[in-house]
Amino acid sequence: PVAHDLVIVANRLPVDRVTLPSGRKVWRRSPGGLVTAIEPVMRTHGGGVWIGWPGGTGQKLRPFEDEGLSLVPMSMTQDEIEGHYEGFSNATLWPLYHDVVAKPEFHREWWDEYVQVNRRFAEKAAQLAAKKGTVWVHDYQLQLVPQMLRDLRPDLRIGFYLHIPFPPAELFQQLPWRRQILEGLLGADLVGFQLPEAAANFVRLVRQRVGHKTHRDLIYLPDGRTVRAAAFPISIDSAGFEELASSPDVVDRAKALREALGNPRRIFLGIDRLDYTKGIYARLRAFSELIRDGHFDVEDAVFVQVAVPSREQVEHYRILRDDIERLVGRINGDLGRIGRPAISYLHTSYPREEMAALYRAADIMVVTPYRDGMNLVAKEYVACRVEEDGALVLSEFAGAAEELKQAWLVNPYDINGMKAALLEAYQAEPRELARRMRAMRKTISQHDVKAWAASFMTELEDVSHHTKHLR
Ligand code: G6P
Repeated sequence: PVAHDLVIVANRLPVDRVTLPSGRKVWRRSPGGLVTAIEPVMRTHGGGVWIGWPGGTGQKLRPFEDEGLSLVPMSMTQDEIEGHYEGFSNATLWPLYHDVVAKPEFHREWWDEYVQVNRRFAEKAAQLAAKKGTVWVHDYQLQLVPQMLRDLRPDLRIGFYLHIPFPPAELFQQLPWRRQILEGLLGADLVGFQLPEAAANFVRLVRQRVGHKTHRDLIYLPDGRTVRAAAFPISIDSAGFEELASSPDVVDRAKALREALGNPRRIFLGIDRLDYTKGIYARLRAFSELIRDGHFDVEDAVFVQVAVPSREQVEHYRILRDDIERLVGRINGDLGRIGRPAISYLHTSYPREEMAALYRAADIMVVTPYRDGMNLVAKEYVACRVEEDGALVLSEFAGAAEELKQAWLVNPYDINGMKAALLEAYQAEPRELARRMRAMRKTISQHDVKAWAASFMTELEDVSHHTKHLR
């Protein structure tokens, strides 16, 4: 096989193999922030390869090219999907790393599948990487890959990036396999996180649990290697979104969307994977109470909620969907009028163009997760507001709140607080909106995804340079 200087290892490929109701199989863009961020980076880096899972059992798929990207699909057995993906990744680690918003489940069989899948990904990366090449491993589904890969290929430069939060020790401690996870990550030269607190949590755990010496963001291993743990807040292709949002097609489509919604005074918008960390239920309640309390009417405002289907085989996600859909039905039944629902609810995913049109059409973007690594939807909205208008209501518990300080910041657990912020955003004067939006647009144009990738890569070279003599 061809040897590659850069190998991306992620649980997901940028495209997802889905079976339509008719039985026909088609490729679709994968959901979520990880793909949104890495895809543009790979596009600008010719010659790299991306190893990942195409969804389903994905048997018999060979490496292929997709719009200039070299993709290597990894199949998973049904047991691996249930144990590694639905189980350990999404019913153990996901809730544990998101502040136990839902109760994590610990099952030994799931762990065994997680180890097995991590090993297969590590072996594939070891096969594909060029001598002294770089392998960049992504996210919580693959935390054991760095050390497994180092054992197989000590010549490689290995980076790891966690797209989701890394929990405080008090929570991480619950994990029966905490030590194995920490040791797995320490196989990397550089371990990247969204926020400095996450990196600090990790370093402290390594010191306390594994017993390695640390100094600030450096970890000294007994074999002489140095590992650095630091924050690299992720971002989006801001210029790309801005351009898309300015295209005549998107401008027209945004107008058409507003008309289809009955040209209300204000359009509220939420776009999220249908996930219990996102705070969808609470935000819809807050919005509906504003109508009930008489602050505005269904003629004045509508809430468009796009819920992107996600992890539908996992029980928590099924329950959440039922809860939200029951709530939407109740709100529309109580408050809507013919042709005027209070909430326009869509359970689907949209291509980038339609997303850009929705962002352009919406006056108030509502992003209220209980905990979120970054949240790229918030940044995409800002990038698309080329007229420097529109309001962003953003949870304090999203990583993005560290940068987008001019948003209306809210605590999603505080329904009254959220109501007050939504109402303020609804009533805000154009000058106030422009002041805030201008500042936020400046931030994201300076910290786009290219800057993110470049700073990670520069640091990776730097750290591994220190330990070069050991290779
Ligand atoms: C988040 C995670 C990604 C994941 C994405 C979609 O962004 O950080 O690793 O790929 O959600 O979730 P899914 O389970 O469909 O891959």
